[in-house]
Amino acid sequence: MSETIEDLRSFPRAEAYAVINRNVDALLDGISDEIASMATIAAVLHHSLGFLWTGFYRVIGREMLLVGPYQGSLGCIEIKFGRGVCGTSAAEKRTIVVDDVEKFPGHISCDARSRSEIVVPVTDASGALIAVLDIDSEEVGSFGDDDKIGLERLVERFRRPR
Ligand code: SME
Repeated sequence: MSETIEDLRSFPRAEAYAVINRNVDALLDGISDEIASMATIAAVLHHSLGFLWTGFYRVIGREMLLVGPYQGSLGCIEIKFGRGVCGTSAAEKRTIVVDDVEKFPGHISCDARSRSEIVVPVTDASGALIAVLDIDSEEVGSFGDDDKIGLERLVERFRRPR
């Protein structure tokens, strides 16, 4: 891929994720480091899709998420399991799509402009939760099944043995 990350905002979302997956595969060929992988994925997703905030919260210690590699406006630093969308996704180990953050009880507002979001759990080869991937949008209803499928596929790489 070129040095500039391709703007995929006009692509149908499923096609965008196919391109993103290919680009991330090429960039991370031979790289197994988790943080380098998360940083690269956050940058590619953020600049390809153009949402407000794109990044990872890593599982640190007992039932605590700590902000990891991300792009966008300033993120909250710590989130407890069970709190907000990220903490709920971590506690339940499932993808959560929130069409309107005002209707998600306990949503944590790191940026008042955020109106919808998707959070995808990230597991390692042993099945342990290592992080969640969060994307926040300034518009209501930005995410759907194609995002869930595309992002879950994108983080499958963390399940490969290192
Ligand atoms: N809105 C998230 C918090 C993380 S940020 O928005 C970057 C939540 O409710 O978990």
